[in-house]
Amino acid sequence: MTGAQGQLGTDLQQVLRGHQLTLLDLPTFDLTDRDCGRLITDAAPDVVIHAGAHTDVDGAEHNPALAMAINADGTERVARAAAQVGARLIYISTDYVFDGRGTRPYVETDQPNPVSAYGASKCAGEERALACCENTLVVRTAWLYGLRGKNFVKTMLQLAAERPCLKVVADQQGCPTFAEDLACMIEKLVAHQVRGILHVTNEGHCTWHEFATEIMRRSGQKVPVEPITTADMPRPAKRPAYSVLSAERLHHLGFRMPSWQDGLQRFLNTGINSKSA
Ligand SMILES: NC(=O)c1ccc[n+]([C@@H]2O[C@H](COP(=O)([O-])OP(=O)(O)OC[C@H]3O[C@@H](n4cnc5c(N)ncnc54)[C@H](OP(=O)(O)O)[C@@H]3O)[C@@H](O)[C@H]2O)c1
Repeated sequence: MTGAQGQLGTDLQQVLRGHQLTLLDLPTFDLTDRDCGRLITDAAPDVVIHAGAHTDVDGAEHNPALAMAINADGTERVARAAAQVGARLIYISTDYVFDGRGTRPYVETDQPNPVSAYGASKCAGEERALACCENTLVVRTAWLYGLRGKNFVKTMLQLAAERPCLKVVADQQGCPTFAEDLACMIEKLVAHQVRGILHVTNEGHCTWHEFATEIMRRSGQKVPVEPITTADMPRPAKRPAYSVLSAERLHHLGFRMPSWQDGLQRFLNTGINSKSA
């Protein structure tokens, strides 16, 4: 597993603890190192879960070459190594491969058209993964939050403790996804032979404003959440306005994710007082 110390990687370690795992991450495993694939071929796993990535969406606008080096070139190294040892590759990708101009949930066959450097690098990573390792599953997820690392839910809870009012964008829609739920679904997919691209998020969708409002309500905070537009809060990277991912293919495989509200509640139950970095 790459990205083992990251937000998703930490939950994957927990969920997959019954499996024999090789945990790869910085500093000993660097996707920009031309030879990083050797750590994978040496371990000769049956499955490679590639969650390691440059995930700083705004930072990638300032250094798109680094995002490409990690998310595209690095993914190619991982994919070639997986192919060399006959392993299956599960590459974690993102809703940010889409431009967000859609008006119905994106299906796996919809044409990607990233609007940010991060999205472009992840999209290139998908292409390299699928081209370099025949037995690849690209799992696109979205709006991820977990107990480890920084994320929107933790930021909202922190700001609620510091500010009288929160201002949150109400014109971007997506699918909040609890990392633990995604990790549990990945465990099921490890045992399944599905290939190609698969969308996996918690069920349902909302705007960031609706998400923040629900975080406040479920955590018992009285802080008002004011809706604003994307234009009110300029950021270096453009975000898709609508990046809802369809669960249709996942359903056809016989799988179903919990709703985003359910995922949020379980996160709050376990993580509300967590200050884990
Ligand atoms: N977070 C989201 O909202 C979201 C949404 C959709 C898809 N995804 C995708 O889901 C996957 C997991 O995301 P996450 O939230 O768990 O991200 P994360 O917490 O940032 O974890 C990524 C891991 O990759 C490591 N990494 C960064 N640069 C590396 C390099 N050059 N070589 C090797 N490892 C490197 C990071 O190390 P450092 O922490 O030391 O940099 C970190 O441990 C990623 O592929 C991401 O693109 C995330």
